[in-house]
Amino acid sequence: MEIKKVELPPLPYKYNELEPVISERIMRLHHDKHHLAYVKGANSALEKLYKFRKGEIEINVREVLRDLSFHMNGHVLHSIFWKNMRKPEENNSPGGEIGDRIEKVFGSFENLKKEFSASAKSVEGVGWAILAKDEENYLYVLNIEKHNLMHIAGFKPLLVLDVWEHAFYLDYENNKASYIENWWKVVNWDDVEKRFKE
Ligand SMILES: [Fe+2]
Repeated sequence: MEIKKVELPPLPYKYNELEPVISERIMRLHHDKHHLAYVKGANSALEKLYKFRKGEIEINVREVLRDLSFHMNGHVLHSIFWKNMRKPEENNSPGGEIGDRIEKVFGSFENLKKEFSASAKSVEGVGWAILAKDEENYLYVLNIEKHNLMHIAGFKPLLVLDVWEHAFYLDYENNKASYIENWWKVVNWDDVEKRFKE
């Protein structure tokens, strides 16, 4: 019988690379503490299931699967989030195939920004805004609660934005709208394009 473990991936850039949009202080806490906690939570759930299968422990399966869903989605989304960002650029906008697709589906990049930002601002409590695609490469903006609620099965996330307070509060306090507006400068559209084509 095999056991699955997940690992904290290193950031693809330096902690201060996203400044002034996202500070080094936030990146250190967010990656080293928060993301690590999801990795540990996912591994703990995976280990419980492994021991349960071996007959070593009894577990409340529903509870463990709920933990697995929360922590594994937290791990997966943060792993995408880090790669989705790079050094800030003014007038940062998508090109290539993803740029064309966005124009076809949303009418314009501005329309996508409007819908995606509205999704991010309207997350109740903690969650994410996500640009995802289905099997036919149609694009959707999703509004995710926590890490794991309101996903659509089989849809692939291309671009994800963390709007939990831990993602912005130290830099923006309660001004979530300003965080979201600035965040567009650090979107790594090359990574979004790569995920779109995969
Ligand atoms: Fe986060």
